[in-house]
Amino acid sequence: MSLRNVIAIDGPAASGKSTIAQKVADRLGGIYISTGNMYRAITLFLMKNKLNLDSDIDPDQVNSILKKLSLSYTKDSNGKLNLMTNGKAVDSEIRSPDVARHVSKIAAMANVRAWLIEKQRELASLGLVVMEGRDIGTIIFPDAKYKFFLTASPEVRARRRLAQTGETIEGSTVASVAREIAARDEMDSKRKVAPLKKADDAIFIDSSEMTIDEVVNQIVSSIK
Ligand code: DC
Repeated sequence: MSLRNVIAIDGPAASGKSTIAQKVADRLGGIYISTGNMYRAITLFLMKNKLNLDSDIDPDQVNSILKKLSLSYTKDSNGKLNLMTNGKAVDSEIRSPDVARHVSKIAAMANVRAWLIEKQRELASLGLVVMEGRDIGTIIFPDAKYKFFLTASPEVRARRRLAQTGETIEGSTVASVAREIAARDEMDSKRKVAPLKKADDAIFIDSSEMTIDEVVNQIVSSIK
């Protein structure tokens, strides 16, 4: 049976997923959820717990730190969900260049993904949910009725990332950001657990030459 209340949007970094998923949720009266933010929040929490993410990471150490972590959400006045770790809002801190640099390594760990999977599935009980990530249509909700795979050329994605504040280091150029994005894509698509991949039944959208509204309209009209 297909899950009619879940809209899954997957795709690589800076493909416009979050802006588009947020707008689709607004248009349909649903709740927008970024699963990338969860991996970022875990990465930040590990860093705060003094785990050295630059060397080999011991999964047992990660497990024992995760025992101290509780992820939750609060709704703001616009109905938007804000992610909290142990009751503290982390939405801006998780966009730092340091977190961005380490998150792919953390997201590739099987125990980290296992820790999140049920938490992500439980969110479907909130109602109409627009969830974006890398494995929503393949692993988290393979039965979702509506699935989209969004991408754009590396250069377009680099320009978009540079336009977002906070994530890039001062002095970054389109070429340097495009290289970082390509490296992250490679790691996300080649990892053993839940690699970034289009679900067979997902609609593929290349947004390189499209405006945000054109993409949102395409998604909303194919749902309706
Ligand atoms: O979407 P984002 O850039 O905020 O994602 C941050 C990282 O988390 C990115 O390296 C990929 C990873 N991620 C993942 O592995 N699976 C998801 N469902 C979402 C994000």
